[in-house]
Amino acid sequence: MLKFNFSTKETTKNTAIIIAVSDKGKIGNISQKLDKKISASISKTINMASNFSGKKKQSLLIPAPFDIGADFIILFGVGDKIANMSPYDIEILGGSLFKKLKANKIKQAEFIIDDIIDADKQAEFAAHIAYGALLASYDFDKYKTKNSKKVKIEYLNFVLADAKEAKKHFDMLQKIASGVFFARDLVTEPANIIYPESFAKIVKKELTPLGIKVQILTEKQMEKLGMGALLAVGKGSARPPRMAIMHYNALSKSAKNKEPIAFVGKGVTFDTGGISLKPSAGMDKMKWDMGGAAAVVGAMKALASRKAKVNVVAIVGLAENMPSSKATRPGDVVKSMSGKTIEILNTDAEGRLVLADALCYVQEKFKPKVIVDLATLTGAIIVALGHEYAGVFTNDNKIAEQLYTAGEEVGEKIWHMPLCKSWDKAIDSPIADIQNITNSTVGAGSATAAAFLQRFVDDGVKWAHIDIAGMAWADREIPTVPKGGSGYGVRLLDNFVRKYFEK
Ligand code: BES
Ligand code: MN
Ligand code: ZN
Repeated sequence: MLKFNFSTKETTKNTAIIIAVSDKGKIGNISQKLDKKISASISKTINMASNFSGKKKQSLLIPAPFDIGADFIILFGVGDKIANMSPYDIEILGGSLFKKLKANKIKQAEFIIDDIIDADKQAEFAAHIAYGALLASYDFDKYKTKNSKKVKIEYLNFVLADAKEAKKHFDMLQKIASGVFFARDLVTEPANIIYPESFAKIVKKELTPLGIKVQILTEKQMEKLGMGALLAVGKGSARPPRMAIMHYNALSKSAKNKEPIAFVGKGVTFDTGGISLKPSAGMDKMKWDMGGAAAVVGAMKALASRKAKVNVVAIVGLAENMPSSKATRPGDVVKSMSGKTIEILNTDAEGRLVLADALCYVQEKFKPKVIVDLATLTGAIIVALGHEYAGVFTNDNKIAEQLYTAGEEVGEKIWHMPLCKSWDKAIDSPIADIQNITNSTVGAGSATAAAFLQRFVDDGVKWAHIDIAGMAWADREIPTVPKGGSGYGVRLLDNFVRKYFEK
């Protein structure tokens, strides 16, 4: 287990000491271990190094020049003005340093936060370096039966004047990370482990102790509520659908009745396409078709853990999309909870069916002012935005702007996509109220999916739909997101709430 410590004193023995270097090779002079002679020797090394000058993103590992109670010194560049580094930049730096330690099999290290960093920024700097390292440390190896040869970093110590403040700040960030890790775990688990019932159970077990009220709807209860759209998706599976409702209200007594903000997540625990079966190549990826639901429950965990002062409700629609003799057929017509009928022309356009009933339920029961849904909804969003941005569709431009800003700050970027009347028209069905796909000449697959969802949003409700199909799984890593389930959306939602809803 990786342990973080914040202290005003350096430890006697460590594998590596890590120190910041500003532009033009300047190092600080706070460290208790690095006396004048050693500092001079480090400065000389920096001057001699051809590819290290203290610029941002540079780092240099050198064997410790004298016996200073460490085998290595790692120098990392912070550029000329660390004031210009955003918290996210600092996290990326922390993640990169973590990877550097791992690559060099260094299990214990000590970061010296000295006067290269302005005194009033040191605590925040240390906390976000640690947060970046923590996010980088995620590793899903529970199904490996042999002890892996991977290096596990054990201990990171941060030495700075205001260690107390740094620890306080890090404790809060660690709570957000616990939500990110919860989401990553859920996304990475295979579909024989995570299916609607087990997903719901885990959510209840994890979130109830945090003061979140969790309610699970069974198939029977959903039938009573008339959720024909969601139920149609789960019909072909031996594993029955569920809906999980999570409510966290930390507002003061006088504000308690204020309408909640609502999160809705697509939780298709495996998407074969149903009778409109997907090709077999890459179908394993569809175990993460519950990435929207994972993000939503991860965000709930983050918010409740850090005791955010908000009223927030989250709904995830859970179903497994399988082909069988009981499965929904292309052409079937079903009635959704809203009363609207849907002609299901393609059983692989199932996420929108799940969301339709979840959206209807949350509006009827909670009357939210704002709804944000997250879903791995369309392959088309990957064509448009790749794996850099999620796409947001919304009836309220201000929310798009807020989500954009919230996302930029935490490195979970989103891009505003359009809604349009003609796409809404394109989902009119000849025999029912709505059809779940358009004819192939329309194009704009992500936008027509959003148009479908909008049919289930009541007038006057602010709503944003975020298509995260390109973001839920990382095939390429970045320092704070190792390959695999990314937990995308947790930090975005947490920051969105913090900036715009928390009092
Ligand atoms: N879960 C998929 C979307 C998806 C694709 C997510 C690739 C992640 C990676 C969704 O249910 C789906 O199958 N969408 C279809 C819609 C089509 C049938 C209108 C798609 O995108 O092809
Ligand atoms: Mn599908
Ligand atoms: Zn799907």
